Amino acid sequence: MSELRVYTDTDSSAPVAVHTLGADIALALEPSGILFSRWSADRELGGDATQDDIIAAYRDSIDELTQRYGFKSVDVVSISPQHPDKDAMRNKFLSEHTHADYEVRFFVEGEGLFYIHVDGKVFAVRCTQGDLLSIPANMTHWFDMGPNPFFRCIRLFTTPEGWVANFTGSDIAQHYPALAN
Ligand SMILES: [Fe+2]
Repeated sequence: MSELRVYTDTDSSAPVAVHTLGADIALALEPSGILFSRWSADRELGGDATQDDIIAAYRDSIDELTQRYGFKSVDVVSISPQHPDKDAMRNKFLSEHTHADYEVRFFVEGEGLFYIHVDGKVFAVRCTQGDLLSIPANMTHWFDMGPNPFFRCIRLFTTPEGWVANFTGSDIAQHYPALAN
């Protein structure tokens, strides 16, 4: 189930608000410039769907977002709990960082936990199947795929170089709950 927990950036002990309805999550994130929405496929997708099948199924939603923000490329990324490098992959984005580009993820299946640190708040956004999250360029955040990661995500990019992570050196991420899966 999708969930937004809102913390302050000085107290990680308990959230000050929790939202589970998609519309409520979107409303709470929107003032900070973070886009959250829910997409539905225009066809059934089997477990053997290729990258092209997945992109085709969400073509209309992808095109709308591409036009609005000027994205130049799209791909599909996946991980399963059997992945031999899952721990290294999890650790890669587990500390607070920024990118010069948007971080846009649409969850075709599976889940992931984004933490976004902005305006004195820490938003914990647990994304599940059907969720789109767009984090603006240069906004501090981290991502936890959990110890048993499972997801397939569509990613949108404006520039390939924009995807490099710039770590802030802060240890804030260690103070907030990890994803248990
Ligand atoms: Fe990131």
